[in-house]
Amino acid sequence: MTDVVRVSGSLRNRLAVTLVGGAAILAILLFIIVRSYAAQIAQQGQDQIIGASVSSILDAAVVRDGAVEVDFPYASLSMLGTERDDRVFYAIYQDDAVISGYENLPRPQWQSGENRTFETVVFDGVPIRMASATRTLIGANVRIQIAVSVGQTQDALSGTLNQISQNVALFGIGFFALAALIAFWATATTFDQLQTLTTAIARRGPKDLRPVARPIPAELAPLVSSLNSLMGRLNQSLLQSENFMTEAAHRVRTPLATVRSHAETTLQRVEKPENRQALRAMVRAIDESSRAAGQLLDHAMIAFRADNMEQQDINLGDLVQELLMQLTPIAEMKDIAFEMAQEPDVIMVGDPILMQNAVRNLIDNALKYAPAESTISISVSHSPSPNVEICDQGQGFAPDEIGDLAKRFKRGANVAGIVGSGLGLTIVEDVAHAHGGKLTLTNRRQGGACATLSF
Ligand SMILES: Nc1ncnc2c1ncn2[C@@H]1O[C@H](COP(=O)(O)OP(=O)(O)OP(=O)(O)O)[C@@H](O)[C@H]1O
Ligand SMILES: [Mg+2]
Repeated sequence: MTDVVRVSGSLRNRLAVTLVGGAAILAILLFIIVRSYAAQIAQQGQDQIIGASVSSILDAAVVRDGAVEVDFPYASLSMLGTERDDRVFYAIYQDDAVISGYENLPRPQWQSGENRTFETVVFDGVPIRMASATRTLIGANVRIQIAVSVGQTQDALSGTLNQISQNVALFGIGFFALAALIAFWATATTFDQLQTLTTAIARRGPKDLRPVARPIPAELAPLVSSLNSLMGRLNQSLLQSENFMTEAAHRVRTPLATVRSHAETTLQRVEKPENRQALRAMVRAIDESSRAAGQLLDHAMIAFRADNMEQQDINLGDLVQELLMQLTPIAEMKDIAFEMAQEPDVIMVGDPILMQNAVRNLIDNALKYAPAESTISISVSHSPSPNVEICDQGQGFAPDEIGDLAKRFKRGANVAGIVGSGLGLTIVEDVAHAHGGKLTLTNRRQGGACATLSF
């Protein structure tokens, strides 16, 4: 059945890929956000120190005799020391002209209205962070505008940032691995529920059409309820067709019995050979139809009972003995003897009516297909499991047909003239399966067929 199901992808894989993919995106986002936040904070730290350095230089500037003097405070540059020995540059401007420091340090780009600015510029081929501020000095008769820029390379800063990036990357990978594990676990537990439901349904017998009663997750409820209603309808239509079969078989059998008895009586009276032959053919055809109707009826009854089987202890020895008593008159007509070997108390659990029907069919076959004046041996034993074996001294099963004889309406090539419908072994096999057992057909070495029902 499974090979006709068209499979398109796997929900489990799709969910797992989505969750793991989501975790990967989150981990990358986390990396980018934490790293840029860390970069911002580190930059702020550096800016504060350069800014303080600029302020302390500005504070040291005074106007003496109309000229600017800066008593360069040592601390203003020493505070910029880093473990990477970042280089520090400065320039002091008076009215846009450099009065001290690096001549070609990039000029500060003042934002309108501000007297303090931070920028990243390239000096001497390397990027530096530069802070600048202005101050107006007031002397005896002068007002002088001075500006100070202090710049510092960023080796220590980028070192710190690389360290932070590494740590955040490791953290991100750990986060991703954990999220992936959780994703696989979540997927597995989610689909376990589906798996349990599938197993529960798959483990059912082919005729078990009861609705699914186990609690199921809400998402599966619509699917399971459609499945339940489908099974309900299927069960209903199965019941209907079984009832129809039973009714039909009844309606066929009764008039057939009447016709047969009329034919038999007429046969007594008719003398012309061709008429007698026609009547015999008629009786035979009636027997065939009647047997078929009977077997169809039994088959329908068995299909029905197998769904609602009784569970009783059945003593297989007693069951066979009872059947032998019923069938002895038929056996006597062919001078056939029964030989019974029985272990005591071979008990199985099942439906006695079904079991009787199955064993009756097997003995019936032996009686039909064994020659007159032969012996039918029946054994009931415990080992290896409870079983009933019925062997005859007929010609046995044809080896090339033996695998198909239990199929519906299948009759062997050895049936010449013997009335039958081909349903007997089907019934036996259905009963065996309903009881968790099996039917085995073999031929005896000394000739004759053996049919074994084992449970
Ligand atoms: N004991 C046996 N010896 C030889 N052949 C057998 C024996 N039992 C069954 N068979 C073969 O298996 C075939 C199927 O048996 P099955 O009982 O299903 O049908 P049937 O006996 O032909 O008809 P019915 O439905 O009336 O029993 C028979 O037609 C016959 O060819
Ligand atoms: Mg039969």
